[in-house]
Amino acid sequence: MSSSHVIRIEKLRKVYRVGKVQVEALRGVDLLVERGEFVSIVGPSGSGKSTLFHIVGGLTPPTSGTVIVEDRDLARMSDAERTRLRKTRVAFVFQKFNLLPTLSAADNIAIARHLSGNRNGADPQFRDVLEMLGIANRLHHRPSELSGGEQQRVAIARAIVNHPAILLADEPTGNLDTTNSQLVLSVLRDLNQRLGQTILMITHNPEAAAFGHRTVHMRDGRIVA
Ligand SMILES: Nc1ncnc2c1ncn2[C@@H]1O[C@H](COP(=O)(O)OP(=O)(O)O)[C@@H](O)[C@H]1O
Ligand SMILES: [Mg+2]
Repeated sequence: MSSSHVIRIEKLRKVYRVGKVQVEALRGVDLLVERGEFVSIVGPSGSGKSTLFHIVGGLTPPTSGTVIVEDRDLARMSDAERTRLRKTRVAFVFQKFNLLPTLSAADNIAIARHLSGNRNGADPQFRDVLEMLGIANRLHHRPSELSGGEQQRVAIARAIVNHPAILLADEPTGNLDTTNSQLVLSVLRDLNQRLGQTILMITHNPEAAAFGHRTVHMRDGRIVA
């Protein structure tokens, strides 16, 4: 069965076991995301937002429930297929930019392309994306020579270099001042509006959440509104 939903989540539960203690991180989450949507996810610390992202990205197995990404049930994928999903279909951006400090911006981006198995050399259209991100003239700088906002935009370029179906941004402006936050949020909005990039963004900030088409509220492992 095909649908316009790039993500379909049903009755998703996740229990972490730490010694004898059980933590119910997700207690039955249902969520549909259309291709091309920009969805903001807000909720208190510990409400299960990052866990949801880790499951959608195939980093963590759910305890029960269904996650379907691009019409494929994650539970029915082999380990190799899940690895491929992580490398090419679902991309992450984190609060910490996680760039390799000894490499230039260009090489940080190129390595992601190479690791995905893409051996086609440079993608000429990606130059336009780098212009849109406002980092085309920063490519030879190392992370320490870039502002936080520039580093995050390099991290975004790295995340989307393989044309993922879904970009998961977990508090992407959490380490940035207001000016740089605005730049990064505008860039995400441009990627969504001009390239149709599907984006899910976790944020604490209501002004940041307003950049999305809609906001999903989480509390105690559930979606509440
Ligand atoms: N790897 C883990 N092992 C054990 N407990 C975890 C792990 N990751 C998250 N948790 C717990 O699951 C709950 C939800 O965490 P998380 O998904 O990180 O929430 P949020 O991103 O909304 O702050 C919290 O109680 C957290 O302590
Ligand atoms: Mg989190």
